[in-house]
Amino acid sequence: MYLKCMGHLIPEEQFKKTKVVVEKFGAPGGMGEFLQKKLLERSEHTANWVYDYWLEDMYLSNRLALPVNSSPVMVFPKQNFRSQSDSLRFAAHLISGILEYKSLIDGRALPVDYARGQLAGTPLCMDQYNKVFTSYRLPGAKMDTLVAQKSTVMPEREHIIVACKNQFFVLDVVINFRRLNEKDLYTQLERIKKMSDIEEERLPPIGLLTSDGRTQWAEARSVLIKDSTNRDSLDMIERCLCLVCLDEPSGTEQTDTNRALLMLHGGGTDKNGGNRWYDKPMQFVIGADGCCGVVCEHSPFEGIVLVQCTEYLLRYMRGSPSKLVRAASMSELPAPRRLRWKCSPDIQTFLMASADKLQRLVKNLDMNVSKFTGYGKEFIKKQKMSPDAYVQVALQLTFYRCHGRLVPTYESASIRRFQEGRVDNIRSSTPEALAFVKAMGNSSKITVCSLKIELLWTAIKAQTNYTILAITGMAIDNHLLGLREIAKELKLEKPELFSDTTYATSIHFILSTSQVPTIEEMFCCYGPVVPNGYGACYNPQMDHIIFCVSSFRDSAETSSDLFVKTLEGCLKEMQDLCIKCNTEAKPADSTKRMDGTTKVMKNGSKA
Ligand code: COA
Repeated sequence: MYLKCMGHLIPEEQFKKTKVVVEKFGAPGGMGEFLQKKLLERSEHTANWVYDYWLEDMYLSNRLALPVNSSPVMVFPKQNFRSQSDSLRFAAHLISGILEYKSLIDGRALPVDYARGQLAGTPLCMDQYNKVFTSYRLPGAKMDTLVAQKSTVMPEREHIIVACKNQFFVLDVVINFRRLNEKDLYTQLERIKKMSDIEEERLPPIGLLTSDGRTQWAEARSVLIKDSTNRDSLDMIERCLCLVCLDEPSGTEQTDTNRALLMLHGGGTDKNGGNRWYDKPMQFVIGADGCCGVVCEHSPFEGIVLVQCTEYLLRYMRGSPSKLVRAASMSELPAPRRLRWKCSPDIQTFLMASADKLQRLVKNLDMNVSKFTGYGKEFIKKQKMSPDAYVQVALQLTFYRCHGRLVPTYESASIRRFQEGRVDNIRSSTPEALAFVKAMGNSSKITVCSLKIELLWTAIKAQTNYTILAITGMAIDNHLLGLREIAKELKLEKPELFSDTTYATSIHFILSTSQVPTIEEMFCCYGPVVPNGYGACYNPQMDHIIFCVSSFRDSAETSSDLFVKTLEGCLKEMQDLCIKCNTEAKPADSTKRMDGTTKVMKNGSKA
């Protein structure tokens, strides 16, 4: 399957060499068989044989800065705050919802998720939810650690960290075994806001350090913890439930793209870039200008869990009216505490370097969030095609149109059908997709419509089949990773399969894609995973599809605007093709075009 996935993406000579390497690896009695046996043994004594390997490979050993490179964000609908109290009221309401949701998780009261779409109906592992408010990604010199706190049903002393003007405040949300109500939360947030306004008390923006590369942050942290004040502050942040970042107005127009950018990197040091703590899985951002959302450290859970959590919160806020009557008197509650930092000259130097790095990241990110309104999954379903497979084939066609070739592509496939399952990869740049995109190539008129639709069907079927393999644990990426890592664990020489150039090419994902569907009006986005690549997150709805495409300006090869423009053209062409030639579609459905006109048949009658 590896050879099939790579054969058409690499030069023929290279493929010939790789074929020999793969055959040697897989020969009876060879290295592959030995490692496979070891992997099977591992599966006997682990809940999930790939989980630790995968977590390290995908996240913990990645040294890149978390913003843009690793942490996805969820962008909420723009809020219309008329005053500061409006945004604080929103924050208090949201925190109430967070506490409610956390008590559902702690009480194991969340309803079990069931698979939808392909092979619907199977119950899914709920383990990821337990990590939403209890994890912390500790930076390390070579590798990070995902630290998990034990959560209990008993309401213990719990706190949230509120970031405001780059200052961090401890907001206790359970005091004397009592959960603070919304009124109390509002009072405390108002006090935090006032404290953050006192200029003389302002401390350096230490949060910037967490936006740096992981090794740099680990180094800075090891200096920071030498001082006991800093140690106490770090400890409070590491043990909090989540962050609530009260952002200053950004001064930029609130388009979808701009809000996505602000959520991904805070707009840099002169905006809200320092008002973050990237190690914490959940940072709820509430901008005074109504730009709101969540920044998520990705290692403990997937985007789908993030969606479930945030949709609960938005529903909660809509369904339960704000319970603010009159602010409680200040004396009733202990004042929130500002976290203190002792900033040595060394730390100042680290801070300057982190600020510089963040600014470069901000300048480099090229983002385009676009709502394709031509049609949505309803049209695709009526073609009797899988909407996800269709969008993936459209992305392949787009890439081919922009770059004249296909590249190793990542599409995340949930493997939560398995205990502790996270994701595996659907390699969407299939040979069948290549055949289709070639047929749709420049001289598209030459290829007859019937052949194009046949090739589209073949590509869609190949994509759908790969999806089914992946979600049932039969894809190749996790398996290859397991074989590679177990060889390392056994201190064996790296098998040639993994030192071969083709392997390096195969895991350099120039196109990194993911479907993150939402019911509420919001969208998820993330950055590219390689310097010359694209991040493409999509959210298919009945009659439209939201695409969030990212790339780096540094790369001369990529352009998010061009990609999105081309994608829109490709989706239109594919629709035309389906309307004209897809005999499998329900007849009544193939008549409505994207422009709202009705297709007229050759004989003049309406189809
Ligand atoms: N004809 C008509 N309808 C079809 C169809 C066909 N041939 N094939 C599928 N459909 C329908 C499905 O029944 C489903 O219907 P629903 O909307 O009523 O549920 C809908 O189309 C969507 O199915 P499909 O487009 O095939 O995709 P999917 O929902 O099975 O999703 C993956 C595929 C790979 C995205 C999904 O399995 C997955 O793994 N999702 C998680 C991704 C993830 O982890 N993202 C976050 C990463 S951080």
